[in-house]
Amino acid sequence: MRIVLLGAPGAGKGTVAKLLTAHDGSVQISTGDILRGAVKAGSELGKTAKGFMERGELVPDSLIMEIMEVRLREPDCQKGFILDGFPRTIPQAEALTKLLEKIGIKLDLVANLDVSKEVVMDRLTTRRTCANSDCQEIYNVKSKPSKVEGKCDKCGSPIVQRADETEEAIAKRLTTYNEMTSPLIDFYRKTGLLKDVSTLKSEEAVSKIAGFIKK
Ligand code: AP5
Repeated sequence: MRIVLLGAPGAGKGTVAKLLTAHDGSVQISTGDILRGAVKAGSELGKTAKGFMERGELVPDSLIMEIMEVRLREPDCQKGFILDGFPRTIPQAEALTKLLEKIGIKLDLVANLDVSKEVVMDRLTTRRTCANSDCQEIYNVKSKPSKVEGKCDKCGSPIVQRADETEEAIAKRLTTYNEMTSPLIDFYRKTGLLKDVSTLKSEEAVSKIAGFIKK
C-alpha cells in the first residue's frame, strides 16, 4: 500500500503505521523518527532540526523535502510505504505530488486519524519511546506499558519521554498542527483520496484502512 497517515500529534500515526507494516510488508517512513535519529547522531541535519523540534515547531520544508526525495527513491519503497508525519504543510503536499509524478508512483489513500483533543493530550503526556534510534518502539504508561519497567521489550534499551513532551512543547505542537497541517484534510479531500478513520482502537483503524485499500 502507498498511503499517507494524517492526524494530530498523539492521534496514533506511529502506532497504526507500525501495525500496517506487519499487515503487508510496506515500510513505515516517519519524518519524526528520521529527525530524532539525526539529532541523536549529531549530524548537520540533526543540529538544525533540534531547536525546531524541541520548541514544537515544524522543521523547514526544504530540509524535509531533501530527506524525502532521497528516501522515497530507496528500493524498499517498491514494496509500498506508509508516510507517518509527512506531508505536514501544503507546500510539502504539493512537492510530494510532483515528486511522486517524477518517480511514477500513485498514492492509494490518505487516512485521516480523527481523534479528539482530550484524547491526544492524555496520550502524549503518558507516551514513552525507546531511546534506541534504530528501534523507537512506542509505549504508553496507561495503554501499552513495557513488560519490564523502563526497558524496551524489543531491544532492551531504556524507554524515555521525548524531548518535545513538555507541556509547553505539546501545546505548541497542537497549535502548529491546527495552523499548518489540518488544512491538508481539505487539500486531500478535494483529490478524492482522503478517508476519515474515527476510532480509538488502533487495530480497528488498521482494518478500516486495509478495507479502504481493497475497494
Ligand atoms: P512526529 O514524531 O511526527 O510527532 P507528531 O506528529 O507530533 O506525532 P507523534 O509521534 O507525537 O504522535 P503519533 O500520532 O505518532 O502517535 P503515537 O502512535 O506515538 O514529529 C515530531 C517533530 O518533528 C515535529 O514536531 C516537527 O518538529 C518535526 N517534524 C516531523 N515531521 C515533519 C515534517 N514533515 N515537516 C516539518 N517538521 C516535521 O501515539 C501516541 C501515544 O498514544 C503513545 O503512547 C501510544 O502508545 C498511545 N496510543 C496510540 N494509539 C492508541 C490507542 N488506540 N489507544 C490507547 N493509546 C494509544
